Amino acid sequence: MQEKLSIHGSWTNRWVFILAATGSAVGLGNIWKFPYITGENGGGAFVLVYLLCILLVGVPIMISEVLVGRRGRMSPINSMIETAKESGLSRRWGLVGWLGALAGFMIFSFYSVVAGWVLYYIAAMANGDFVDAGKAQVGATFENLLADPETMLIWHSVFVVLVMAVLVGGVNKGLERASRILMPALFLLLLLLLGYSFTTGHFMEGVTFLFHFSPDELSWEAVLTALGHSFFTLSLGIGAMIAYGAYMPKKASIGGTVLIIAVLDTLVALVAGMAIFPIVFANQLSAEAGPGLMFITLPVAFGQMAGGQVFGFLFFVLVGVAAWTSAISLMEPSIAWVVERFKVHRLIACTGLGLLGWGLGLLSIGSFNVLSDYTLLGMGVFDLLDFATANIMLPLGGLLVSIYVGWWMKRPALENELAIRNPFWFNAWYLAIRFIAPTAVAAIFALNLYNKLA
Ligand code: PHE
Ligand code: NA
Repeated sequence: MQEKLSIHGSWTNRWVFILAATGSAVGLGNIWKFPYITGENGGGAFVLVYLLCILLVGVPIMISEVLVGRRGRMSPINSMIETAKESGLSRRWGLVGWLGALAGFMIFSFYSVVAGWVLYYIAAMANGDFVDAGKAQVGATFENLLADPETMLIWHSVFVVLVMAVLVGGVNKGLERASRILMPALFLLLLLLLGYSFTTGHFMEGVTFLFHFSPDELSWEAVLTALGHSFFTLSLGIGAMIAYGAYMPKKASIGGTVLIIAVLDTLVALVAGMAIFPIVFANQLSAEAGPGLMFITLPVAFGQMAGGQVFGFLFFVLVGVAAWTSAISLMEPSIAWVVERFKVHRLIACTGLGLLGWGLGLLSIGSFNVLSDYTLLGMGVFDLLDFATANIMLPLGGLLVSIYVGWWMKRPALENELAIRNPFWFNAWYLAIRFIAPTAVAAIFALNLYNKLA
């Protein structure tokens, strides 16, 4: 039988899929968010819970998403419809794809704004702006950036153009080529920074902070944060992995491949922590700075250190590259769908959706300055988009995918697609996707909403 392939193209081999999917997974979530939520939640015990969540919830759901994509061979929306038809189910399952594509589009709009700040910091580092700057000065630079819509607009636009330039090229000449160049660069930069933090003399302090175990520091809320983050960090619940799975060669084993991606994503987060915390501690700064850890604490630290200008610059280049490859995967689901639905060239789909995402980003930019008076539930546009996606749409998408794959798709289709020879591993995955994942996700979903709205 002729193997069914995606009309959008296919990854040249399994390793390219691993690079592209790791590019999606490794992003601001690993280098910005993971270190600061670990800092806020006291380190070690939090890291342990996070690792459990990745293994018991993240990996099984990622396997399910890649499975749906490779079986359907189309955009997430149409892959849901195709696989539903195959199992004799309603086309309405396509709505799960819609939810994901919409969430990806919404995340893209504010992710690009934060990535724009990163680009601004690359330029500032290159310029030596933070050399010997104190906390007050860097803090003021960051505040001034947020108060200045024009500067934010410029860098946001640059980032959107960078992302769209890759997406226009398509699966092979765009996504694949970018992954082949950017991912090795990312790993190299990360190792360089790790080596640099080794020279600070505070390396073990950083490692101890990440891996010491004190269960009494673990709050119920920290468990929820860990579970929610395991979702975000693996790019789950928005269809990104369905889209990338659609381009995956049939020969490659889904289970083994997904494990590699999850391990790489986790390693990058841990290594980023090991690179960042020693630099923070070496300068007697606090690990608990929250979101400002990257935009205020770290530049202060780099500014005090020998070689800090060069390594600070390299650090923000690393973050920029990571954000770039992630943003690509946020838009691929909707772009693939537009190409399928309207039979237009990718250039048209990318221009149209790129402009829309860019435009929505303007509202996020404004929410820090000119539009700061417009709020809903006490949140501006930026916070609202973040809240609606991270706390509602992503978990809901993941929950629906696990219910769909675990309870509705026909088991022979799953066995055929996963082609796991050892029944033990199939059963372990099946158990996780039917019972553990939906229960855990439903719990975060409900508790997060309760916390936020009550
Ligand atoms: N996984 C990315 C990160 O860690 C974020 C992301 C979420 C990217 C969903 C694509 C889809 O930053
Ligand atoms: Na990640």
